[in-house]
Amino acid sequence: MKPLENIKQKVNPSLHNKLPKRWKKIGNVLIIDLENLAKEKKRKIAEIYAEELNVRTVIQKNKVSGELRKPEKVELLYGTETITEISEYGIKYRLDLNEIMWSPGNTGWRSALAGPEKVNDFYSFDKPRTIIDYFAGIGYFALQMARGYPKARIIAVDKNPKAINYLTANIKENNIDNIEIINDDCRNVKWNADVIHLGYIGNTIDFLDHTYNCLNENGIAVFHEAYRNNWLGFKRRSDWGSVPTKFSDLMETKGFVVEKFERVKFYGPSTSHIIAILRKI
Ligand SMILES: C[S@@+](CC[C@H](N)C(=O)[O-])C[C@H]1O[C@@H](n2cnc3c(N)ncnc32)[C@H](O)[C@@H]1O
Repeated sequence: MKPLENIKQKVNPSLHNKLPKRWKKIGNVLIIDLENLAKEKKRKIAEIYAEELNVRTVIQKNKVSGELRKPEKVELLYGTETITEISEYGIKYRLDLNEIMWSPGNTGWRSALAGPEKVNDFYSFDKPRTIIDYFAGIGYFALQMARGYPKARIIAVDKNPKAINYLTANIKENNIDNIEIINDDCRNVKWNADVIHLGYIGNTIDFLDHTYNCLNENGIAVFHEAYRNNWLGFKRRSDWGSVPTKFSDLMETKGFVVEKFERVKFYGPSTSHIIAILRKI
């Protein structure tokens, strides 16, 4: 029987239409929206979900906000432990969901060279000597890139000292020895590189001038952002696969040619999180 069916059996039928059908399971922690339920019912329902889905802690779904993408006030519905561990494509990540975001929707794309062919293709670079990850967080991409390119020097940058603490521990835990860490605003980092990864959403374009200046000749920027499908000119599924003209024109003004373009995931009903490979011209 499906988990939700089992959960329903333990809950008064009058509440069945208020039970969430979707949730995010991040290691030992479940993130779920119980806002529709009365305050006094939440804990018990959260406990039932915890038992059925085999997690230690249940957190109310909330937003991440600000430049550091910190989760807004975390409401514990059941349990207390918010530090969790996730294993993906051979890498272990440890983080505190009270402090740091984790996007389950990026799973495949976090795999870099270790995952599906499409992702592997985006992250295949020709003998890179230096790769910089400007928004490294707890090592979402940097760890996979370090493993995929053992001869390269990987520089992982993040502004948030709490993310850096987890990044440091995750590098150790995964026995990786080719990552250097910088706890600073990426715009203060003047190192040159063959590849610069911009795993950020919101105003990624504001970091492109600095990226351009730091990239070696013919260097590559891996660019993430969210755009409205309308702006991209994509109406149907079949429109994906080409590079939108508006996007390539915009990137040209920044000194880049778009070599690859793909959707990572839907980001709201009419917006898409995209990834693009930009080559410095
Ligand atoms: C959205 S998270 C990374 C998400 C990740 N790519 C994923 O797949 O889940 C963005 C990170 O960028 C960091 N950050 C934000 N602005 C920054 C800046 N100007 N320089 C360096 N790091 C920054 C934040 O601290 C945060 O750890």
